[in-house]
Amino acid sequence: MKSVCVIGGSRYFGLRLIELLRDAGTAVTVVNRGSAAPPPGVAHVVADRDDEEGLRAALGRSTFDVVIDQVCYTPLQAALARRVFAGRTARYVMTSTMEVYDPATSALITPAASGTLVTEYFFDAAAWPADGGPAGPGPAGPGPSGLPAEAVTYAEDKRRAEAVLAGESAFAFVAVRSAHVLGVRARDFTGRLAYYADRIRAGRPVAVHRDPFPSSFTNDEEIAGLLFRVAASDHVGALNACSHGPLDVLDLCEAIGAQTGRAPVYQVVEPGEPASPFSFDRHYAMDNGLAARLGLPLSTGADWLPDAVAATLGHAKAA
Ligand SMILES: NC(=O)c1ccc[n+]([C@@H]2O[C@H](COP(=O)([O-])OP(=O)(O)OC[C@H]3O[C@@H](n4cnc5c(N)ncnc54)[C@H](OP(=O)(O)O)[C@@H]3O)[C@@H](O)[C@H]2O)c1
Repeated sequence: MKSVCVIGGSRYFGLRLIELLRDAGTAVTVVNRGSAAPPPGVAHVVADRDDEEGLRAALGRSTFDVVIDQVCYTPLQAALARRVFAGRTARYVMTSTMEVYDPATSALITPAASGTLVTEYFFDAAAWPADGGPAGPGPAGPGPSGLPAEAVTYAEDKRRAEAVLAGESAFAFVAVRSAHVLGVRARDFTGRLAYYADRIRAGRPVAVHRDPFPSSFTNDEEIAGLLFRVAASDHVGALNACSHGPLDVLDLCEAIGAQTGRAPVYQVVEPGEPASPFSFDRHYAMDNGLAARLGLPLSTGADWLPDAVAATLGHAKAA
């Protein structure tokens, strides 16, 4: 892998990814709208990926061994990328999400049996209706789950984006379905773990479901490393990316309580009612057996969770 184009790459684990690529001696080109300068040694193409002609013009005649698309959120973006990058790369890696498996966001997703970790086969992008089909919470889901509309749209648009890119024969396509990413190194701009830390430190109640389900997690350092290795591999198709050992919202809160010296206070809500961001009333934690069989290094969530909590508390103190 001599040359890689990263679309995005200006913050969080995308930034770490381009550092890893550069430090391995890969020629890296980062494509974004220029809100921040890339690190030294990385070529910068300033373009809006939603502007097809602008993107083509900015890329000129460039070709790449691999494209890693960090910011493909919709089927329209995927279709545009398919047109622009077919013939420019042999391999296209899309950073996707475990939300593609969330049964509360589509009637077409079969809920996994409780306790059964979901493999890549639970969602077949190649068979998904890329340009329509039923979206939104469906009867197959365990309940309304109190999800905001954006969460439903995010999951369905990621499925459709995967479906569009999986249909391209000019390049090999990989969808890396990332677990929830906690920051052990960089500040997590989503603020989800910080939300718990703030409430627990202040002695305010945290809304959790009765008997919350575990979910899958990774950290910024691990997911950047996994994307780097997957890009350089010859794996094609979907890949679940998460640490070993699912964690539930109570595990997260107890880890925060251990470092703040304040026991978490819980407000228990029923399944189907809105709760805090990592409280789940349905099961879609991922199986990472395929990643393990491919020889990818996987950590254990419980081992690094204290580091993520310490980093979150440290960022809050510095702010
Ligand atoms: N955080 C999580 O827990 C989690 C979990 C699962 C999956 N994911 C996936 O992780 C990916 C994001 O990773 P990241 O946060 O580390 O991002 P990243 O690689 O740093 O990319 C974000 C950057 O992309 C650029 N960008 C956004 N829209 C653009 C556009 N239209 N054209 C060109 N550049 C654009 C922006 O920089 P400019 O403003 O300079 O353009 C933005 O700062 C997403 O695909 C998300 O679905 C995240």
